[in-house]
Amino acid sequence: MSGASRFLAACRRQPVDRPPVWVMRQAGRYLPEYREVRRRAGGFLTMCRTPELAAEVTLQPIRRYGLDAAIIFSDILTPLEPLGIQLEFSPGPHLANPLREPGDLERLTVPEPWSGTGYVEVALRMVRAELPPGVALIGFCGAPWTLATYLVEGGTSKSFSRVKRFAFAHPEAFDRLLDTLADAMAGYLHRQVAAGAQAVQVFDSWVGALAAGDARRWALRPARRLLEALGDLDVPRIYFANGGAHLLHDLADMPCEVLGLDWRVDLGMAARALPRHALQGNLDPGVLMGPPEVIRARTLEMLRSAPGRGYVANLGHGITPDVPVAHLAAFVETVQGFTRG
Ligand code: CP3
Repeated sequence: MSGASRFLAACRRQPVDRPPVWVMRQAGRYLPEYREVRRRAGGFLTMCRTPELAAEVTLQPIRRYGLDAAIIFSDILTPLEPLGIQLEFSPGPHLANPLREPGDLERLTVPEPWSGTGYVEVALRMVRAELPPGVALIGFCGAPWTLATYLVEGGTSKSFSRVKRFAFAHPEAFDRLLDTLADAMAGYLHRQVAAGAQAVQVFDSWVGALAAGDARRWALRPARRLLEALGDLDVPRIYFANGGAHLLHDLADMPCEVLGLDWRVDLGMAARALPRHALQGNLDPGVLMGPPEVIRARTLEMLRSAPGRGYVANLGHGITPDVPVAHLAAFVETVQGFTRG
């Protein structure tokens, strides 16, 4: 398939010659050419804010592996800066002025219409101009719940104590924060699509921290508000609910074309529970630490349990920095050589 995108066809559940493949966090530290750009740039945020560098590292995994989609190099937290949040990475994220009390919400200033991330739009245009026509370009953002965890905790959390304290103590204010984030990210993704993104992925990385009922209110409800606000865009919407195995029933009516699955979910069972969506995933990223013959066997097992139509091969979460480049090749080449028998 050259010209028409295998990835976009699979997202729309149209027939394809083989499953398309891309990898969450495909532009990253496991690649020596990424580490080289990062060393010269001096820091991760500089790479995000410099369109030439962001475009370069977005294209690196495409050149090396011939993937079916590129995801624009950025972070889910960078669009919080235009809201008034001070952000640093060392290497994990640190927010200098987190929101701890309902009164702190007044500090959030949402640009309307969306602005402040023009560098992402420039990078998207540069990447689209360089990409082969059959390779799709994916834009992304964080889901409201996942962004709220960073906004309240001030960084990555293990226990989520502060964000849960806020949510249980001030449920109405917390709902307002989630709605604000949904509307802001809708504006951000509209700009990304106008700049050339042909699909969008919403990362809900921390759904697994919530009980089912709380996940419905604090994760799925605002994610739905965001996804619905993208309904006027003619691009596939991917919702990745990491740790959402306890919510398969609820995911069945999410307003999106594709559901991303983490590696804890049985792909065959998910396909039966989610007949209306295309599915994306879901090899355990840890399998890539094993030997290539095991990677090939586990990848084939995944492909055989995947639906024949409406399926995008991927890992079940981001690739880790310690994966040897030849091990990712074993995964990608197994998908590229796969034909359904
Ligand atoms: O290749 C791609 O997937 C595109 C780029 C991308 C990055 N972050 C670059 C990055 C994407 C899509 C993200 C999403 C992201 N960022 C998520 C959602 C996906 C997930 O993993 O669940 C989250 C939760 C973040 C927040 C974040 N950014 C954390 C917790 C960290 C530190 C952890 C780490 O990996 O070091 C980051 C930093 C980050 N974002 C790096 C990259 C390549 C590493 C920075 C570096 O080069 O030092």
